[in-house]
Parts: sequence; C-alpha cells; structure tokens
Amino acid sequence: MIYQVYPRSFQDSDGDGIGDLAGIRQRLDHLVALGVDALWLSPIFPSPMADFGYDVAEYRGVEPMFGDLAQFDALLADVHARGLKLMLDFVPNHTSTEHPWFLESRASRDNPKRDWYFWRDPKPAADGTPGPPNNWTSDMGGSAWQFDEATGQYYLHTFLKEQADLNWRNPEVRAAMMDVLRFWFDRGVDGFRIDVLWHCLKSQGLEDNPLNPAYRPGMGEKYLVLQHNSANQREIHELAGAFRSLADSYGDRLLVGEIFLPLEQLMTYYGSAEQPGVHLPFNFQLLETPWKADALAQAIATYEAALPQGGWPNWVMGSHDAPRIAGRLGEAQARNAAMLLLTLRGTPTLYQGDELGIGRVTIPPDRICDPQDLRQPGLGLGRDGARTPMAWDGTAYAGFSTIEPWLPLHADWRVRNVSRQEQEPGSMLGLYRRLLAARREHPALSHGEIVLLPYEPEVLRYERRAAGERLLVALNLSEQERLVDLPPGTSADLLVSTAGSPLFDGRLLPGEGVLLQLKEC
Ligand code: NOJ
Repeated sequence: MIYQVYPRSFQDSDGDGIGDLAGIRQRLDHLVALGVDALWLSPIFPSPMADFGYDVAEYRGVEPMFGDLAQFDALLADVHARGLKLMLDFVPNHTSTEHPWFLESRASRDNPKRDWYFWRDPKPAADGTPGPPNNWTSDMGGSAWQFDEATGQYYLHTFLKEQADLNWRNPEVRAAMMDVLRFWFDRGVDGFRIDVLWHCLKSQGLEDNPLNPAYRPGMGEKYLVLQHNSANQREIHELAGAFRSLADSYGDRLLVGEIFLPLEQLMTYYGSAEQPGVHLPFNFQLLETPWKADALAQAIATYEAALPQGGWPNWVMGSHDAPRIAGRLGEAQARNAAMLLLTLRGTPTLYQGDELGIGRVTIPPDRICDPQDLRQPGLGLGRDGARTPMAWDGTAYAGFSTIEPWLPLHADWRVRNVSRQEQEPGSMLGLYRRLLAARREHPALSHGEIVLLPYEPEVLRYERRAAGERLLVALNLSEQERLVDLPPGTSADLLVSTAGSPLFDGRLLPGEGVLLQLKEC
C-alpha cells in the first residue's frame, strides 16, 4: 500500500504556509495508524517551482523551502524506524531551465552540453515565416518548442517552457542521471516513482506527430496530435530495464512508472523475463472508468487478463493531477471507491486527503497557482483543487500551518479533519483504517486471487480467495436499496460496511458497499 504525500500540502513546520520535510516527520504517526506500507513524496528537490517541483534545478539536493539533506536523512530514519518505506519522485524527462546543465547547454551552439537537450533550427512554415521544428504539442498547451534568441534555435519542452526535455540518447545524460538514482539509493531510499517514463525517448528523426482525428476544441491542445513520435518509443524498454537493473542491484527496491497509455501498451512497461521493466506501471483506469458496475467489472477483467506472467497489479484512485474522487462521486460512492481500491488485487496507491474524503475545492480565480490552469483557463484542467492542504484538526488553518496556506483549505475542514474523524468510527478515515486492517488480517485480500461475479444492475461483486478463505465484496453503485445474492451454498459474516451497518441481511443500503467473509454451509 503506497501513500502519496504532496509535500507542499502535508504539514508546514516553519510557518511559511507551505509544507516541508520536518512537517512530514511530525505526521508519520497518522500514516502508521492508517496502516500504509510506503510513502511516495512528490518532488522535494531544488526547483524554481514553475511546475511545483516537477521542474528540478538540482537532482541531488533538497529544496530549501522543504528543508535540507540532513532533514531528509532524519525523515528517512524516522520512516524506517516505523517500519515504513520511503519512495522519491524521479523526474528524468526534463530539467528546469535553471538547472546548470541547461544553462550550459543554452550558452552556445558548441557548448559540450548542447546535445544534452534538443536544440533545432527553426523550420519555415507554409507561409515562409520561421516556425518550430515540428508539430509536437506541449502537455500544458501550445507548441512543445521554445525559441531562444541567444543562439537562434528552438529547444524542446514536452511540458512548460521552463521544463526542457533531456536527450536520453546522449550517453553522458544517461550516466549523469543514473548517478542521481545511485545518490538516493545510497542514502537508503526504497524506490522511485518515475515521472512520465513513456516520454523519455523520442523518435530519432523528431518527425511530425500524426494529427488526432478525434480532436475537438476544448480538449486541451496536447490532444491535437497523437504522440507516436514524441513518446513511447521501442527503445524505452531498454532504458526502463537499465533503471530496474540498477534498483535490483540495491536489493529490495521498488520502481513505479508513471505512464498514460492504452492498456496493451502500458503492459509492455512490465518488461519481459529477460529484461524486467518497472515493477508497477501505474494503472490509472479507475480515474477514468465510468462509475457503473458493468464498466468497472469490464475494466477490472480486462486489466487482469492483460497482465503479463508474474506482473503484479496496481490501482490508483487519486493523485495531485486528478480531480478529487469524493468531488467526482460524492461521499457515499467515495466510500465505495475506498473499498474498491483496498480490496482489488494488487498494490493500491492512496493520495493524501482522500482518506478524509476531501471533495471538490473551488479555488478563487486570484488564488489559482497551477500553470496548467493559468495557461489554458476555463477548460477544467486545473489541478489546484487536488493539491489543497491536509486538515489535521479544528484549530486555525486546520493545524496545517500558522498562516494562510499557499492554497485554500476545503470549505468543511472544521469537521473534515484527521482529529475529528479519529473520534468518529463511522468517518471516512475510520473506514480506511478498517479496510487497511482487513487487508493485513486476510491473506485473501493481500495476495489472493480475484474472481469477478456476474454483476447485478448497479451492484459490482467480486470474490477474493486464498487457501481456506473466501471474501466477497459487493458495492451498491446506485441510490436505491439492492439485494445481493451470495454464491450458492454460502452464508456470510460482515467484516466491513461502508455505511456502518452492524450486520448483513442480504440487502445493501443505497450506496453501501460490504466486505463479507463467506462460509460454506
Ligand atoms: C506528471 C506529474 O504528475 C505532473 O504533476 C507534472 O506536471 C508532469 N508530470 C510534468 O513533470
């Protein structure tokens, strides 16, 4: 079970309205009480924060706003002392344009680091005026190329113009970045989440991408083209394999790849028996699948069937990039989402604040920070709503800080906070704790097989089975009461109800999910 910490918004220890490493240290008991196994920290490295840390200006240090290396070591020691693991965010596709490598590369056309990035001459557009070298689009809107007056060439940026893409075909880049991984592994870090892994290699010729026939205005400009040549090149698997070999050389370490691709292509990132890839290519399907029993059952079945031999599944229900699950589905279904996430087969990743059921947070226009939203306003692409501070208690600023935080708190923080929910067994936090405790107690949940049962209208049902144990999950996705059939020849004991029902009598309340222990009778 991985828990994603967004460091800016977890706990502020020095009163600047922004979270930091010392703050995370103060709150580790929350993670122990919750029952997670590992923390993944979004980037903590020195950064101008154009993309809130995903623009790294130095890979082997700590952003002063978050602390320093000594504080990092102290955090790591505390995490390990509690029996937890710590993962960092490795951002290989691009550096900040303030990284010394880029400053050198930009200095002149013949700088030894020129080829560490992608520099190309302008290409004449149809009307003869100079334009970008090809039609690739930035994930943040507009062209992926930025003209640099100093040397009269464009450089490539798949994300913001402040995030220049590294040229991973250059062996010096590769060696330098492998050293970055070694630096943190040597310090004792337990693994990495690898940012946009599928983007790291581009087609050697940098040819135009094909146009996307499904593009419609309002989708965001990154969808104008299909990323055939700018991402997901065959050679990426050799690179993923090299990351994996390095991780394996340190023993028990974990690599999670951030990859947004259709299922069949996603699966290739597990690698092969001869050349394993990352342990877990992130599976984001639950963020996109319609909240319907048939659609979810189909998504689970297709994913399970697509896994390669020995591939361990994983599920993600929220992140700093996605709308809050409780905002999307409402409180009752967010409880079902918790049960689904924690009872499916494989490693779940839980995003901070989802254990409180934080819903949609409206960010006043003058407080919008996310460059995605600022560059393409009005398309609903803003990510600030998922990045608001954790709420710890009912005191000023929810115990997160002593001053107004960098982003506003959710409106109901006075009641929706850790301290309050700890007192209420029926709270979302209580539910997460019970579900995580059940995962530890029942081998069927941690490593048993999954058997999808025919879905009843708006009720998703599946069994988890291990030697001598059968558990049934039934989630009522409707707003009406529903009857649930048990498998023939079984009766059931209730382990967890999302609605706090004391026992199971064959009915599910509107929006209720249950975890049942089956007994043969
Ligand atoms: C994915 C990260 O999750 C997102 O926050 C970031 O903007 C992009 N990668 C670029 O690094």
